[in-house]
Amino acid sequence: METEFRLTVNGAERTVTCEPDTPVLDVLRHDLGLAGPKFGCGTGLCGACFVLIEGRARSSCDLPVSAVGGPVITLEGLPDGDGRLHPVQQAFIDEQAAQCGYCTSGMVMAAVGLLGDRPGPTEQEVRGALDGNLCRCGTHDRIIRAVQKAAAQTSGGSAVVPRPPAGQVLASQVPAGGTQPGEGPMLAPGPPVAESGVQSSASPLPADLAANPVLARWLDFSRDGEVTIRTGKVEYGQGIWTALAQVAAEELQVTLARVRVAAVSTSTSPNEGITAGSLSVQDSGSALRQACAQARDLLLDAAAVRLGVPQAELAVADGQILADGPTGLSYWALAQPGLLDRPADAPVPPRPPREWSVAGRSAARLDIPDTVTGRPRFLHDLVLPGMAYGRVVRPPARVADLTGLADLDLGSDVVLVRDGSFLGVVAPADRAARRAAGRVARAARWRTSPSLPDPRDLRGFLLSAPSQEETVVDQPAADAAGTAARTLTAEFTRPFLAHASMAPSCAIARWDGRSVTVWCHSQGIFLLRDAITAGLGLQAGQVTVHYVEGAGVYGQNGADDVAMDAVLLARAVPGQAVRVQWTREDEMCWPPMGSAMLARLSASLDADGRIVTWRQDVWSNGFMGRPTMGGDPRLLALTHLAGGRPMPPAPDLQPANWMGASRNAVPGYDIPGLQITRYRLLDMPIRTSSLRSLGAHLNVFAIESFMDELAAAAGADPVRFRLAHLGGTSGTAATAPGTGSGWPGTAESRGTAPPWRRWRRTPTSGCAGCGSRWTWAGSSIRTG
Ligand code: FES
Ligand code: FES
Repeated sequence: METEFRLTVNGAERTVTCEPDTPVLDVLRHDLGLAGPKFGCGTGLCGACFVLIEGRARSSCDLPVSAVGGPVITLEGLPDGDGRLHPVQQAFIDEQAAQCGYCTSGMVMAAVGLLGDRPGPTEQEVRGALDGNLCRCGTHDRIIRAVQKAAAQTSGGSAVVPRPPAGQVLASQVPAGGTQPGEGPMLAPGPPVAESGVQSSASPLPADLAANPVLARWLDFSRDGEVTIRTGKVEYGQGIWTALAQVAAEELQVTLARVRVAAVSTSTSPNEGITAGSLSVQDSGSALRQACAQARDLLLDAAAVRLGVPQAELAVADGQILADGPTGLSYWALAQPGLLDRPADAPVPPRPPREWSVAGRSAARLDIPDTVTGRPRFLHDLVLPGMAYGRVVRPPARVADLTGLADLDLGSDVVLVRDGSFLGVVAPADRAARRAAGRVARAARWRTSPSLPDPRDLRGFLLSAPSQEETVVDQPAADAAGTAARTLTAEFTRPFLAHASMAPSCAIARWDGRSVTVWCHSQGIFLLRDAITAGLGLQAGQVTVHYVEGAGVYGQNGADDVAMDAVLLARAVPGQAVRVQWTREDEMCWPPMGSAMLARLSASLDADGRIVTWRQDVWSNGFMGRPTMGGDPRLLALTHLAGGRPMPPAPDLQPANWMGASRNAVPGYDIPGLQITRYRLLDMPIRTSSLRSLGAHLNVFAIESFMDELAAAAGADPVRFRLAHLGGTSGTAATAPGTGSGWPGTAESRGTAPPWRRWRRTPTSGCAGCGSRWTWAGSSIRTG
């Protein structure tokens, strides 16, 4: 029965009415509108929801509101009365102690609790106190440093530090005044946008600019004193929006503070395909740099005409035009509407690196102040006007059909959605939606079929499932094989791996007439738009997808699927935004996983202990399972709708050393005979897609472990054994073990060259800071 509760939260008396067993986290987020505490596991195991109660940090997701015995403080309540940050918050900014930032609130609260108890903790005590807080992104070392820094400050008496300015208004901030993220004014339609951002080989422009040539797609000066830049690459903790802002600031010669990164949206942003492969700065940075260079050139041309002087006599200082001194002109005075509504012209020389003052230097991330202060930033924090809440009821097995649903009275304010085996509810509040979904789950009847491989024998499954054999490298060396004196074999496996993001997947959708707008945290909003369009038989232009930040993932988790869930549930309540969040159970069971893999290696040593042949066979499901890869739209709910079909096995695209399961399957050693083969499974009992590093995770482990075994068989030191197989007479990679990694230096480690001498750096489209591509024997590997 609902009861009234009085709480003291962040120093203010609050009254809420709810069931006594309602978790405090639920009350803080949904009833009191606080975004600081986060939902992670929901079972007291991850620390994302930590708050202080009577000064002690504890989880709020498993604490009933009726059990709260004292004042509650959340991240929002840490600054002092003048708004100055707590030293722990400031230390997190100073140490840049966040990647996606989803765990940050809980970490800060745990640290504040610790310092309240023990002002001068040892490193061990800090580590112990944060042991219950997970960081899926792996930011622990920075976090520990930040807490130690704060501890040193507080014990030295510096209690508070000035509050930093808010992070930029990026895509994920819940806007004030009802403006919705990503809903900026539509640009005049430009030329058709290529789907992949791949450059036509004839264009001298960076690939993504050639594919999205209208300059106004990349930047505008419509806000006085600010430059708004647009990228098709999304931010999920890599810090790329800060890096791209630096690129733009440098090229336009304005301070970083003047650059605003616009929300990424299929309606307004350049289509740069997926944000993946560590290519964002290289691809988007190169395009943005050239777009900014061309914009600066156009503006200086306009200034030259106005002033009646040659452009060469003009200079720029923080957006002001100079000609032997101030001219009174600025970018903002010169940028007439429509000036940038033109295609990029022949490349303009960008500013040379020797003149850089903003790019190429460390800069504090623009988004971290929000994560350490609890400002709404994640999709999970976004509340749209009149928003309803949806929940999906998934089948109890991967292969299951809904055969019946007992009569249910869910109440007049709950909408039941049923289409084939897709089941869900929409309710006015998340609590009500969860309750209704639970009742629907209990009322549903399913026919299930066993479909999963035996988890104790994944090797058997991988080797027996039908597969497509694809040659990655075929480099026979008959002479070398003839010298083989000894052959070793080994197998390495890994299981299916879940992304297990700190936050369960979440999305919002709203139908307005025949069009649907989606807010989601997918890394590939353009692919998602196309998959929703194709999956529902809609026309181009009927689906718009806005990106809003989620918790770090680096691959494909449930972000795309939950977006489709939201679209289907929102269709039942036209005109109303519907937010759908997966349960933690669904997050671990239903999103794509990284495939189970098996690598079987065999190599021969000659009488001198040199490797003469190497064979590597890799069995795996495909990793290229993004929403439109392989043709059909690949979204979970589509398989459950009436008439839906099972999802075909994930593709793996080219059998190359950088693609899919065969990524890094070619050993980087000087070996005469090489045979590398990929076996892509044609059964997909567990759905697979991209997971960070794709097949490199197992392949590199297997290769380097096998190198140790070969070295032992040859009676050689493993470092010297590797160096001996790098070959050549010059190069830097081989000197690294002796100079940079802490490995013992050896005479052999100096002056030798790796087989990378056979690798050639492929010219890229004006690399802006990282990510080069190297090609070898028809294959390639990405770095950076
Ligand atoms: S500990 Fe509460 S959400 Fe994980
Ligand atoms: S920064 Fe910790 S979960 Fe992402």
